[in-house]
Amino acid sequence: MELIGEEEKRELLEVIESGYLFRYGSPDNPAFKAKVYQLEQQVAKLVGASYAVAVNSGTSALLAALSGLGVGPGDEVIVPGYTFIASISSIIYARAIPILAEVDRTLNLDPQDVRRKITPRTKAILPVHMLGIPARMDELKAIASEHGLLLLEDCAQAFGARYKGKGVGSIGDAGIFSFNIYKTITAEGCPFTCPYYKGGQVDYRKGMLPQTDDLLSRAINISIGVSDPGLGSAFGVTIHDNDNTIDDCAELFLRTAKEYL
Ligand SMILES: Cc1ncc(COP(=O)(O)O)c(C=O)c1O
Repeated sequence: MELIGEEEKRELLEVIESGYLFRYGSPDNPAFKAKVYQLEQQVAKLVGASYAVAVNSGTSALLAALSGLGVGPGDEVIVPGYTFIASISSIIYARAIPILAEVDRTLNLDPQDVRRKITPRTKAILPVHMLGIPARMDELKAIASEHGLLLLEDCAQAFGARYKGKGVGSIGDAGIFSFNIYKTITAEGCPFTCPYYKGGQVDYRKGMLPQTDDLLSRAINISIGVSDPGLGSAFGVTIHDNDNTIDDCAELFLRTAKEYL
């Protein structure tokens, strides 16, 4: 299947033909498609957040969020060492200091190590929900309120994930998402083309969750169902591995998930 299908092309054409190429316009004008506005409303609703603001990338969203939260020169921000570079580089761009903390077996921020990393300069904690798995938000939130720290969730890899009934991104003071091409957007009825792991091959399909049956397949898809084979290496598998290797990895993942979730 084409990565960019007819639906995507039609949506784009609709905007171009409307003549409104900017995000602002009058909602009363039928020519104004207000697609960005609608996306913001829908994302806020799905996540359970009061507001959503669309920017051009997850990296820009991190920069905007850090600036909006007032993180600036000299502030320390505790962030996991295992993440995409943008979680850390955005802190540096904000002229703040990234303080790397350990991850635990869930591959997310270890609250115990966060406690060890707090200093009088700490301003915020930046957990990253890696590979679609929420970080331990109850513990991190408790630490944040105990020490008067801000909590910024990097949900770039976890759109649609929920933690104890709450959408990730709505638990801390702010949350950011990414819709880049490698991201598995897991919303039901997902309008985007997502990579989908099946039998050792990557297959591009419309929406991902509807085709996955349980948490395990979803996690496997999130971890290895990407067009870049390297990205799956977190769970020790790549899209080129045979089914036995992937099954072993799935077993391991399931045991870990049961223990922590
Ligand atoms: C954890 C994490 N944070 C931030 C980003 C940045 O998102 P974007 O590529 O949309 O700038 C990514 C994606 O690459 C990511 O995986």
